[in-house]
Amino acid sequence: MSKSLRWAILGPGRIAPRLVRAIGASTRGHLAAVASRDDGRAAAFAATHGIAQAFGSYQALLQAPDLDVVYIALPNHLHAEWSVRALQAGKHVLCEKPLALTVEQVDAIAAASRQSGCVAVEAFMYLHHPQIRRAIELATDGTLGRLELMVGTFSFYLAHPGDPRAEREMGGGSLWDVGCYPVSLARRIAGLEPDTVAGLARFDASGVDRTFIGQLRFPDGWLAQFDSGFAAPDRERVEIVGSDATIILDAPFLPEPDGPAPSLRLCRGRECQTIDVPSVDQYRAEVDDISAVILDGASPRVSLDFSRGNVGTLMRLDQSARQAAAGSSAPATWLDR
Ligand SMILES: NC(=O)c1ccc[n+]([C@@H]2O[C@H](COP(=O)([O-])OP(=O)(O)OC[C@H]3O[C@@H](n4cnc5c(N)ncnc54)[C@H](OP(=O)(O)O)[C@@H]3O)[C@@H](O)[C@H]2O)c1
Repeated sequence: MSKSLRWAILGPGRIAPRLVRAIGASTRGHLAAVASRDDGRAAAFAATHGIAQAFGSYQALLQAPDLDVVYIALPNHLHAEWSVRALQAGKHVLCEKPLALTVEQVDAIAAASRQSGCVAVEAFMYLHHPQIRRAIELATDGTLGRLELMVGTFSFYLAHPGDPRAEREMGGGSLWDVGCYPVSLARRIAGLEPDTVAGLARFDASGVDRTFIGQLRFPDGWLAQFDSGFAAPDRERVEIVGSDATIILDAPFLPEPDGPAPSLRLCRGRECQTIDVPSVDQYRAEVDDISAVILDGASPRVSLDFSRGNVGTLMRLDQSARQAAAGSSAPATWLDR
């Protein structure tokens, strides 16, 4: 293993430039290759970002011997397949969320990881930000008193025609796209899997949820509630509520790397104190953390067990909402205001 990790990207789409920047800022690796299904798109992305190698197929990139880590930035239905293929080709994997669409797919990734000795990590970038790490510390060290509930929100207006997020067979829907964030945070704070979940959704005619609300109850009684959506302007917020105090995060999942430090407040009644957290590029923090896993043998912040629990919980929520919707009134028109 070279000391400087040689990174590659599968899928030069909308999120990929964030990782170009993050890997570019890393002191422990560099971006060496990109692959697209199309030669021209790969070459254009490589030229724009100064990447040495461009491949016109994902498999061709995986066969290149001189690459160490593959960042998988493909639509959701391709995550498991290409994670397994990359691991089988002897590459470490950082794969976008959701890592997979079924628990069985996560198990296949875990098996390929064990067999190859390569690491696979789901790209929940927000879990690497000091803001969320501090919030989790405060929620679990007794500062809030007895934990009662978490309330989380993440939505945006989906305005890209033909977006994979709006395609059911591509793992679309707001639950899988953005609902996965508050679900993962509630599970991370609980350190347990929910024993009960319930979901309700507005599905479009093809069965993709455009708005989702979900509830989780954990074995210790702790509750979480969230909503996610594609049909309302940008909203994100988390409250973690205890018997003595509440934590409020105004940008829990997508704090700006170049803007002011994110707002983390600890409130007792109406009296709130701001907790100082730095403004950092959480994608860079993610790259640094996975580099330490690969190069130093550090434990991953997002383990495959954690991802397995998240995928399982999302499946249960999805099923609950579909059962509730069966026989109910006509579906909402996609993106109908
Ligand atoms: N962590 C985050 O902050 C964050 C933010 C946004 C998205 N994401 C996740 O990142 C992944 C990619 O999201 P994105 O917004 O970058 O996606 P995107 O731009 O829609 O697609 C990414 C790339 O996937 C490739 N692709 C392969 N098969 C495809 C198909 N059948 N249809 C369309 N594209 C296909 C395309 O590249 P080629 O055709 O050139 O190969 C495309 O450029 C998703 O899983 C999403 O959940 C994460």
